[in-house]
Amino acid sequence: MELFTDRSLDSDRIQILGTVNYSAPSNIALVKYWGKKGRQLPQNPSLSLTLSQSRTFTSLYFQGRSYLKELPNIEFEFFEEVSSSFSDKTMSFLKDLTSNELPYLKYFDLKIASRNNFPHSSGIASSASSMAALAMGLRELHLSLFPELKTYELYEGQIASYLSRLGSGSACRSIQGPFCQWGLEDSGTGNDTYAVKLTDIHEEFDDVRDSILIIDSKKKSVSSTTGHSLMNDHPYSLKRYNRARTHLTELKRGLASGDWDRFIEIVEAEALELHALMMCSQPSYILMSPNTLRAIELIREFRGRTKLRLCFTLDAGANVHLLYAGQDEKAVGEFIKAQLISLCEDGWVIHDTAGTGARAEVETLL
Ligand code: PMV
Repeated sequence: MELFTDRSLDSDRIQILGTVNYSAPSNIALVKYWGKKGRQLPQNPSLSLTLSQSRTFTSLYFQGRSYLKELPNIEFEFFEEVSSSFSDKTMSFLKDLTSNELPYLKYFDLKIASRNNFPHSSGIASSASSMAALAMGLRELHLSLFPELKTYELYEGQIASYLSRLGSGSACRSIQGPFCQWGLEDSGTGNDTYAVKLTDIHEEFDDVRDSILIIDSKKKSVSSTTGHSLMNDHPYSLKRYNRARTHLTELKRGLASGDWDRFIEIVEAEALELHALMMCSQPSYILMSPNTLRAIELIREFRGRTKLRLCFTLDAGANVHLLYAGQDEKAVGEFIKAQLISLCEDGWVIHDTAGTGARAEVETLL
Protein backbone atom coordinates (compact mmCIF):
# COMPACT_ATOMS: atom_id res chain seq x y z
CA MET A 1 0.00 0.00 0.00
CA GLU A 2 1.25 3.49 -0.81
CA LEU A 3 1.52 5.70 2.28
CA PHE A 4 1.45 9.09 0.60
CA THR A 5 0.77 9.21 -3.11
CA ASP A 6 -2.49 9.40 -5.08
CA ARG A 7 -4.63 10.47 -2.19
CA SER A 8 -7.19 13.12 -2.85
CA LEU A 9 -9.23 14.76 -0.12
CA ASP A 10 -12.64 16.36 -0.35
CA SER A 11 -13.06 19.64 1.49
CA ASP A 12 -15.25 18.10 4.25
CA ARG A 13 -12.45 15.82 5.29
CA ILE A 14 -9.98 18.68 5.61
CA GLN A 15 -12.12 20.58 8.12
CA ILE A 16 -10.36 19.13 11.14
CA LEU A 17 -8.75 20.80 14.08
CA GLY A 18 -6.61 19.53 16.93
CA THR A 19 -3.44 19.68 18.99
CA VAL A 20 -1.17 16.68 19.33
CA ASN A 21 1.77 16.36 21.69
CA TYR A 22 4.73 14.04 21.25
CA SER A 23 8.27 13.62 22.44
CA ALA A 24 11.15 11.80 20.78
CA PRO A 25 14.65 10.97 22.00
CA SER A 26 18.04 11.46 20.43
CA ASN A 27 19.88 8.39 19.10
CA ILE A 28 23.53 7.50 18.68
CA ALA A 29 24.71 5.62 15.61
CA LEU A 30 26.77 2.48 16.21
CA VAL A 31 27.26 1.92 12.47
CA LYS A 32 27.42 5.41 11.01
CA TYR A 33 25.45 7.05 8.22
CA TRP A 34 28.01 9.25 6.48
CA GLY A 35 27.30 10.10 2.85
CA LYS A 36 23.92 10.57 1.23
CA LYS A 37 22.21 10.68 -2.15
CA GLY A 38 18.88 11.81 -3.63
CA ARG A 39 16.26 13.02 -1.18
CA GLN A 40 18.09 12.24 2.03
CA LEU A 41 18.80 8.61 1.19
CA PRO A 42 21.80 6.94 2.82
CA GLN A 43 24.81 5.68 0.89
CA ASN A 44 25.07 2.81 3.36
CA PRO A 45 22.83 1.21 5.98
CA SER A 46 23.29 2.36 9.59
CA LEU A 47 22.40 0.95 12.99
CA SER A 48 21.71 2.97 16.13
CA LEU A 49 20.94 2.89 19.81
CA THR A 50 17.89 4.95 20.75
CA LEU A 51 18.34 6.98 23.94
CA SER A 52 15.61 7.61 26.47
CA GLN A 53 16.32 10.69 28.61
CA SER A 54 17.52 13.28 26.10
CA ARG A 55 14.30 14.26 24.33
CA THR A 56 12.50 16.97 22.37
CA PHE A 57 8.87 17.71 23.27
CA THR A 58 6.74 19.07 20.45
CA SER A 59 3.13 20.20 20.24
CA LEU A 60 1.48 20.57 16.84
CA TYR A 61 -1.76 22.44 16.40
CA PHE A 62 -3.53 22.06 13.05
CA GLN A 63 -6.64 23.59 11.62
CA GLY A 64 -7.96 22.79 8.17
CA ARG A 65 -9.57 25.53 6.07
CA SER A 66 -11.50 25.43 2.82
CA TYR A 67 -9.11 27.60 0.82
CA LEU A 68 -5.66 26.84 -0.43
CA LYS A 69 -2.46 28.79 0.19
CA GLU A 70 0.86 28.49 -1.56
CA LEU A 71 2.33 26.98 1.60
CA PRO A 72 0.94 25.98 4.98
CA ASN A 73 0.51 28.90 7.32
CA ILE A 74 3.02 28.19 10.09
CA GLU A 75 3.68 29.80 13.45
CA PHE A 76 6.56 28.65 15.63
CA GLU A 77 6.99 28.90 19.34
CA PHE A 78 10.40 27.79 20.52
CA PHE A 79 11.60 27.68 24.06
CA GLU A 80 14.98 29.26 24.47
CA GLU A 81 16.92 26.01 24.47
CA VAL A 82 16.14 25.52 20.77
CA SER A 83 18.47 27.16 18.25
CA SER A 84 17.06 29.72 15.83
CA SER A 85 18.41 27.84 12.81
CA PHE A 86 15.99 25.08 13.79
CA SER A 87 13.03 27.20 12.67
CA ASP A 88 14.62 27.65 9.20
CA LYS A 89 15.30 23.94 8.97
CA THR A 90 11.73 23.11 10.06
CA MET A 91 10.30 25.57 7.56
CA SER A 92 12.18 24.05 4.64
CA PHE A 93 11.23 20.57 5.85
CA LEU A 94 7.53 21.50 5.82
CA LYS A 95 7.83 23.21 2.43
CA ASP A 96 9.41 20.08 1.02
CA LEU A 97 6.65 17.87 2.45
CA THR A 98 3.99 20.21 1.03
CA SER A 99 5.53 19.87 -2.42
CA ASN A 100 5.73 16.10 -2.13
CA GLU A 101 4.26 13.74 0.46
CA LEU A 102 1.73 16.00 2.22
CA PRO A 103 0.28 18.40 -0.41
CA TYR A 104 -2.84 18.95 1.73
CA LEU A 105 -0.75 21.01 4.18
CA LYS A 106 -1.60 23.96 1.90
CA TYR A 107 -5.06 23.81 3.45
CA PHE A 108 -3.75 23.99 7.01
CA ASP A 109 -2.82 26.54 9.60
CA LEU A 110 -0.13 25.03 11.80
CA LYS A 111 1.37 26.04 15.13
CA ILE A 112 4.45 24.25 16.36
CA ALA A 113 5.91 24.57 19.85
CA SER A 114 9.07 22.73 20.76
CA ARG A 115 11.32 22.28 23.78
CA ASN A 116 14.40 20.16 24.48
CA ASN A 117 14.94 18.70 27.95
CA PHE A 118 18.70 18.65 27.41
CA PRO A 119 20.61 21.91 27.34
CA HIS A 120 20.99 23.45 23.90
CA SER A 121 24.71 23.90 24.46
CA SER A 122 25.38 20.32 25.56
CA GLY A 123 26.80 19.23 22.23
CA ILE A 124 24.04 16.62 21.82
CA ALA A 125 22.47 17.08 18.38
CA SER A 126 18.81 17.97 18.73
CA SER A 127 17.91 17.67 15.06
CA ALA A 128 17.15 13.92 15.29
CA SER A 129 14.90 14.23 18.34
CA SER A 130 13.13 17.37 17.15
CA MET A 131 12.41 16.17 13.61
CA ALA A 132 11.23 12.81 14.98
CA ALA A 133 8.85 14.48 17.48
CA LEU A 134 7.42 16.77 14.79
CA ALA A 135 7.04 13.85 12.37
CA MET A 136 4.99 12.00 15.01
CA GLY A 137 2.57 14.93 15.05
CA LEU A 138 2.41 15.05 11.25
CA ARG A 139 1.81 11.29 11.22
CA GLU A 140 -1.19 11.77 13.49
CA LEU A 141 -2.60 14.46 11.22
CA HIS A 142 -2.02 12.16 8.22
CA LEU A 143 -3.77 9.25 9.93
CA SER A 144 -6.72 11.46 10.89
CA LEU A 145 -7.13 12.30 7.21
CA PHE A 146 -6.51 8.74 5.97
CA PRO A 147 -7.66 6.38 8.76
CA GLU A 148 -7.42 3.41 6.39
CA LEU A 149 -3.61 3.56 6.76
CA LYS A 150 -3.78 2.83 10.50
CA THR A 151 -3.57 -0.96 10.58
CA TYR A 152 -0.84 -1.03 8.01
CA GLU A 153 1.29 1.56 9.78
CA LEU A 154 1.05 0.05 13.25
CA TYR A 155 3.49 -2.73 12.54
CA GLU A 156 6.46 -0.74 11.42
CA GLY A 157 6.02 2.93 12.35
CA GLN A 158 6.91 3.74 8.75
CA ILE A 159 5.03 6.99 8.30
CA ALA A 160 6.76 8.91 11.09
CA SER A 161 10.14 7.42 10.33
CA TYR A 162 9.80 8.20 6.62
CA LEU A 163 8.73 11.80 7.26
CA SER A 164 11.36 12.50 9.91
CA ARG A 165 14.09 11.23 7.57
CA LEU A 166 13.28 14.10 5.23
CA GLY A 167 13.84 16.58 8.07
CA SER A 168 17.14 15.05 9.22
CA GLY A 169 18.41 11.66 8.05
CA SER A 170 19.32 10.21 11.42
CA ALA A 171 15.96 11.30 12.89
CA CYS A 172 14.27 8.32 11.25
CA ARG A 173 16.03 6.09 13.80
CA SER A 174 14.52 7.97 16.79
CA ILE A 175 10.94 6.79 16.29
CA GLN A 176 11.51 3.32 17.71
CA GLY A 177 14.15 1.56 19.81
CA PRO A 178 16.31 0.38 21.46
CA PHE A 179 18.09 -0.71 18.26
CA CYS A 180 17.12 0.48 14.77
CA GLN A 181 18.40 -0.16 11.29
CA TRP A 182 18.03 2.41 8.53
CA GLY A 183 19.01 1.37 5.03
CA LEU A 184 19.00 -1.64 2.81
CA GLU A 185 21.40 -4.48 3.55
CA ASP A 186 22.87 -6.73 0.86
CA SER A 187 20.58 -9.53 2.09
CA GLY A 188 17.56 -7.39 1.14
CA THR A 189 16.64 -6.59 4.77
CA GLY A 190 15.89 -2.97 5.72
CA ASN A 191 14.76 0.04 3.77
CA ASP A 192 16.44 3.26 2.62
CA THR A 193 13.33 5.39 3.17
CA TYR A 194 12.58 4.57 6.83
CA ALA A 195 14.16 2.81 9.79
CA VAL A 196 13.02 -0.45 11.32
CA LYS A 197 13.37 -1.69 14.87
CA LEU A 198 15.65 -4.71 15.27
CA THR A 199 13.93 -7.56 17.05
CA ASP A 200 16.64 -10.22 17.31
CA ILE A 201 18.52 -8.81 20.30
CA HIS A 202 20.13 -11.02 22.95
CA GLU A 203 19.33 -10.31 26.63
CA GLU A 204 23.00 -9.29 27.11
CA PHE A 205 21.98 -6.04 25.41
CA ASP A 206 18.74 -5.52 27.36
CA ASP A 207 20.11 -2.67 29.43
CA VAL A 208 22.73 -0.68 27.53
CA ARG A 209 23.77 2.62 29.09
CA ASP A 210 25.26 5.67 27.42
CA SER A 211 27.13 8.18 29.57
CA ILE A 212 27.90 11.14 27.37
CA LEU A 213 31.16 12.87 28.29
CA ILE A 214 30.76 16.51 27.27
CA ILE A 215 34.32 17.27 26.25
CA ASP A 216 33.34 20.35 24.26
CA SER A 217 29.86 21.86 24.17
CA LYS A 218 30.55 24.35 21.37
CA LYS A 219 28.75 24.04 18.05
CA LYS A 220 30.91 21.96 15.74
CA SER A 221 33.02 23.84 13.22
CA VAL A 222 31.90 21.77 10.21
CA SER A 223 28.24 20.76 9.93
CA SER A 224 27.00 17.24 9.17
CA THR A 225 25.51 18.55 5.92
CA THR A 226 28.98 19.63 4.77
CA GLY A 227 30.49 16.38 6.04
CA HIS A 228 28.00 14.28 4.07
CA SER A 229 28.68 16.25 0.90
CA LEU A 230 32.46 15.84 1.28
CA MET A 231 31.89 12.10 0.94
CA ASN A 232 30.83 12.57 -2.70
CA ASP A 233 34.39 12.99 -3.98
CA HIS A 234 36.12 11.30 -1.10
CA PRO A 235 39.01 9.00 -2.06
CA TYR A 236 37.75 6.29 0.35
CA SER A 237 33.98 6.60 -0.12
CA LEU A 238 33.34 3.30 -1.90
CA LYS A 239 35.57 1.40 0.48
CA ARG A 240 33.78 3.09 3.37
CA TYR A 241 30.26 2.23 2.16
CA ASN A 242 31.29 -1.41 1.80
CA ARG A 243 32.93 -1.47 5.24
CA ALA A 244 29.76 -0.04 6.79
CA ARG A 245 27.69 -2.78 5.09
CA THR A 246 29.95 -5.48 6.48
CA HIS A 247 29.96 -3.86 9.93
CA LEU A 248 26.18 -3.68 9.95
CA THR A 249 25.76 -7.36 9.16
CA GLU A 250 28.39 -8.34 11.73
CA LEU A 251 27.02 -6.07 14.43
CA LYS A 252 23.54 -7.53 13.95
CA ARG A 253 25.04 -10.99 14.39
CA GLY A 254 26.79 -9.84 17.57
CA LEU A 255 23.60 -8.26 18.96
CA ALA A 256 21.65 -11.45 18.27
CA SER A 257 24.21 -13.76 19.89
CA GLY A 258 25.05 -11.53 22.89
CA ASP A 259 28.64 -11.07 21.76
CA TRP A 260 30.01 -7.96 23.54
CA ASP A 261 33.53 -8.48 22.15
CA ARG A 262 32.22 -8.20 18.60
CA PHE A 263 30.04 -5.25 19.60
CA ILE A 264 33.02 -3.39 21.11
CA GLU A 265 35.26 -4.07 18.13
CA ILE A 266 32.77 -2.85 15.54
CA VAL A 267 31.42 0.14 17.48
CA GLU A 268 34.89 1.55 18.17
CA ALA A 269 36.05 0.91 14.60
CA GLU A 270 33.00 2.78 13.29
CA ALA A 271 33.63 5.79 15.54
CA LEU A 272 37.26 6.08 14.50
CA GLU A 273 36.48 5.52 10.81
CA LEU A 274 33.97 8.37 10.85
CA HIS A 275 36.64 10.73 12.18
CA ALA A 276 39.35 9.28 9.90
CA LEU A 277 37.08 10.12 6.93
CA MET A 278 36.85 13.71 8.14
CA MET A 279 40.60 13.91 8.56
CA CYS A 280 41.23 12.87 4.98
CA SER A 281 38.38 14.79 3.31
CA GLN A 282 39.24 17.62 0.92
CA PRO A 283 39.36 20.01 2.76
CA SER A 284 40.38 18.03 5.77
CA TYR A 285 39.09 18.77 9.26
CA ILE A 286 39.35 17.44 12.80
CA LEU A 287 36.46 17.43 15.27
CA MET A 288 38.14 15.45 18.06
CA SER A 289 40.02 17.33 20.74
CA PRO A 290 43.01 16.22 22.87
CA ASN A 291 40.63 15.23 25.69
CA THR A 292 38.64 13.03 23.27
CA LEU A 293 41.79 11.03 22.60
CA ARG A 294 42.73 10.92 26.27
CA ALA A 295 39.25 9.58 27.15
CA ILE A 296 39.56 6.88 24.46
CA GLU A 297 42.93 5.86 25.83
CA LEU A 298 41.61 5.66 29.40
CA ILE A 299 38.51 3.70 28.36
CA ARG A 300 40.65 1.10 26.55
CA GLU A 301 43.07 0.89 29.47
CA PHE A 302 40.22 0.44 31.97
CA ARG A 303 38.61 -2.26 29.82
CA GLY A 304 41.93 -4.10 29.48
CA ARG A 305 42.35 -4.07 33.25
CA THR A 306 38.81 -4.90 34.39
CA LYS A 307 37.48 -6.90 31.39
CA LEU A 308 34.18 -5.03 31.81
CA ARG A 309 31.74 -4.69 28.90
CA LEU A 310 32.26 -1.10 27.85
CA CYS A 311 33.40 0.86 24.82
CA PHE A 312 33.24 4.31 23.28
CA THR A 313 31.59 5.78 20.25
CA LEU A 314 31.71 9.31 18.81
CA ASP A 315 29.23 11.40 16.91
CA ALA A 316 30.42 14.14 14.54
CA GLY A 317 32.00 16.09 17.39
CA ALA A 318 34.45 15.92 20.29
CA ASN A 319 32.12 14.35 22.87
CA VAL A 320 32.56 10.73 23.86
CA HIS A 321 29.66 8.32 24.32
CA LEU A 322 30.64 5.67 26.85
CA LEU A 323 28.49 2.58 26.25
CA TYR A 324 28.28 -0.18 28.87
CA ALA A 325 26.10 -2.87 30.39
CA GLY A 326 23.69 -1.61 33.07
CA GLN A 327 24.92 -4.33 35.48
CA ASP A 328 28.31 -2.63 35.61
CA GLU A 329 26.85 0.78 36.44
CA LYS A 330 28.61 1.06 39.82
CA ALA A 331 32.10 0.19 38.61
CA VAL A 332 31.75 2.35 35.50
CA GLY A 333 30.36 5.24 37.56
CA GLU A 334 33.43 5.10 39.80
CA PHE A 335 35.71 5.01 36.76
CA ILE A 336 33.98 8.07 35.30
CA LYS A 337 34.38 9.99 38.55
CA ALA A 338 37.97 8.97 39.10
CA GLN A 339 39.36 9.35 35.59
CA LEU A 340 37.01 10.81 33.00
CA ILE A 341 35.09 13.63 34.62
CA SER A 342 38.18 15.85 34.76
CA LEU A 343 38.37 15.71 30.95
CA CYS A 344 34.82 17.08 30.58
CA GLU A 345 33.83 20.72 30.29
CA ASP A 346 32.84 21.77 33.83
CA GLY A 347 32.80 18.08 34.79
CA TRP A 348 29.72 17.60 32.63
CA VAL A 349 28.45 14.06 31.97
CA ILE A 350 24.91 13.22 30.79
CA HIS A 351 23.81 9.75 31.87
CA ASP A 352 21.33 8.22 29.46
CA THR A 353 19.94 4.72 28.84
CA ALA A 354 18.62 2.77 25.87
CA GLY A 355 14.99 3.62 25.15
CA THR A 356 12.00 2.71 23.04
CA GLY A 357 11.59 5.86 20.94
CA ALA A 358 8.87 8.46 20.43
CA ARG A 359 5.74 8.63 22.57
CA ALA A 360 2.56 10.63 22.99
CA GLU A 361 2.61 13.23 25.78
CA VAL A 362 -0.29 14.52 27.82
CA GLU A 363 1.08 17.97 28.48
CA THR A 364 0.79 20.53 25.72
CA LEU A 365 3.22 23.37 25.01
CA LEU A 366 0.60 25.43 23.18
O1 PMV B 1 21.20 13.11 10.32
P1 PMV B 1 22.36 13.95 9.93
O2 PMV B 1 22.26 14.48 8.55
O3 PMV B 1 22.65 15.02 10.96
O4 PMV B 1 23.68 13.02 9.92
C1 PMV B 1 24.10 12.28 11.05
C2 PMV B 1 25.47 11.81 10.87
C3 PMV B 1 26.08 11.13 12.09
O5 PMV B 1 25.48 11.58 13.27
C4 PMV B 1 27.56 11.49 12.14
C5 PMV B 1 26.01 9.62 12.00
C6 PMV B 1 24.67 8.99 12.19
O6 PMV B 1 24.43 7.94 11.59
O7 PMV B 1 23.86 9.50 13.00
